[in-house]
Amino acid sequence: MKTMKIEGNYCRLEIGSILEGGFQAYLKTFENQKIVILVDENTHDYCLEYLITSFPELERAEIMLLPCGEENKVMEVCFQVWQAFTEYHVERKDLVINLGGGVVTDMGGFIASIFKRGLTFVHVPTSLLGMVDAAIGGKNGIDLDGYKNQLGTITQPACVFIDSGFLATLPGEEIFNGYAEMLKHALIGDITLWEEIRHIQSEEELIQQEVIVKAIRVKTNIIEQDPLEGGLRKKLNFGHTVGHALESYFFQSTPISHGHAVALGMIAESYISMKRNLLTKESYKEIESTIIRSFPMIELQAEDVSQVISLMYQDKKNEEGQIRSCLLDGIGSCMYDQEVKEEEIGESLFHLTLLFNL
Ligand SMILES: NC(=O)c1ccc[n+]([C@@H]2O[C@H](COP(=O)([O-])OP(=O)(O)OC[C@H]3O[C@@H](n4cnc5c(N)ncnc54)[C@H](O)[C@@H]3O)[C@@H](O)[C@H]2O)c1
Repeated sequence: MKTMKIEGNYCRLEIGSILEGGFQAYLKTFENQKIVILVDENTHDYCLEYLITSFPELERAEIMLLPCGEENKVMEVCFQVWQAFTEYHVERKDLVINLGGGVVTDMGGFIASIFKRGLTFVHVPTSLLGMVDAAIGGKNGIDLDGYKNQLGTITQPACVFIDSGFLATLPGEEIFNGYAEMLKHALIGDITLWEEIRHIQSEEELIQQEVIVKAIRVKTNIIEQDPLEGGLRKKLNFGHTVGHALESYFFQSTPISHGHAVALGMIAESYISMKRNLLTKESYKEIESTIIRSFPMIELQAEDVSQVISLMYQDKKNEEGQIRSCLLDGIGSCMYDQEVKEEEIGESLFHLTLLFNL
C-alpha cells in the first residue's frame, strides 16, 4: 500500500514507509537547528538504528533515553529530560522526535509542549497502540501518584509518521494491546470495521496497513470535529472509566497493560449498556466473546471492587462528583457523559470475575 496522508486542521499524519514519505523533506527544514530523539530502552535497541541509518541527517541528533514502562511516565523523568535540554541548549525552534510507544509519545509530547512554552515535536509511533491511538490527537501527559494522565497538555505534534514496519519487533502481547484500542474505535464509530476485525486472531492480520488506516480514521474524524474534548471526543474514552481504574489498581501489585485494562473496561461498560437496555443482549455477547478470545480475564474480590470504584472518582471525565462514562447504544454508536452509579459498576466488575471463572 502506498504512503497516504491525512491532513486536517488538527491531525497531520503520514501512513506508510517512512522512507518514502515526507520525513526526509521535513528534516531538511531543521538543518540549522538541533534535533533531539527521545527513545525508551526497547525503541533504542530495536527502532533507532533503522531511523538513523535511513536518514543520515539524524546522525547529529542528540539521543535521550527514557526508562521503559508506565511506571516511568512520571514527573521525575520529565525533570531529568528538561535538565538535559537545558544542558544541550535546546531552543524553541529545535525539533524533538518521539520514537516509541504510547509512553514515549505521551511523555515526549508533554516534555516538548512545556519546555520554553513549546518546542516543535513529531511522533514516530512504534507500537500498534501508538499508531492507532496514542500518537494521534495531541493529548500528552504523565501520571501522578499512580493516577493516570493527571498532568498533561493538548498540543498537536507537527506531524505523525506511521510506519507499520516498526511493528516487526513488537512482542505479540503488545500487538494485542493495540487491538484493544482498534476494537474501541470500531465499537464507538465504525460497525463495518468491527465486522472486519472482530474475528482476527493473528498478529499478522492486525498489522495490515489497511486495517490500521481504518482504525486511525475513526479517531481522526472525531478529533477534527472536537480537538479539545468539548464533547464528541469524550467517546474515545469508552472502556477507560473502568479501564483506567483497573490499570491504576493493579499498578502496585500485578500491573496490567493499558490495552488489557481497556479491553476489560469495554466489557464492563458494554455490560452496563446492556443492563440499561441500550445495547441488545446479542450485541453484548458478541463484544464479550470477541474480547475474551484475545485477552485474559481477571478475578476481583469484593474489597478489590470497592477500591477500583473509589479510584474512578479521580477520572477526568467526572463532573459534580459523579462518575461519568461512555456507554454503547449499539455496535458502532456511543453516548458520552453518562452518569453511572456505583452499584452498576460494581455489578459489571462482579460479572468480569464470573468470566474469569468460566
Ligand atoms: N495520548 C493518547 O491519546 C493515548 C491514547 C491511548 C493510550 N495512551 C497511553 O499510551 C500508553 C500505552 O502505550 P503502549 O501500549 O504503546 O505502551 P509502551 O509505550 O509502554 O510500549 C509497550 C512496550 O513495547 C515496547 N516497544 C514499543 N515499540 C516497540 C518496537 N517497535 N519493538 C519492540 N518493542 C517496542 C516499549 O518499549 C514497551 O516496553 C499508556 O500510557 C496510555 O495511557 C495515550
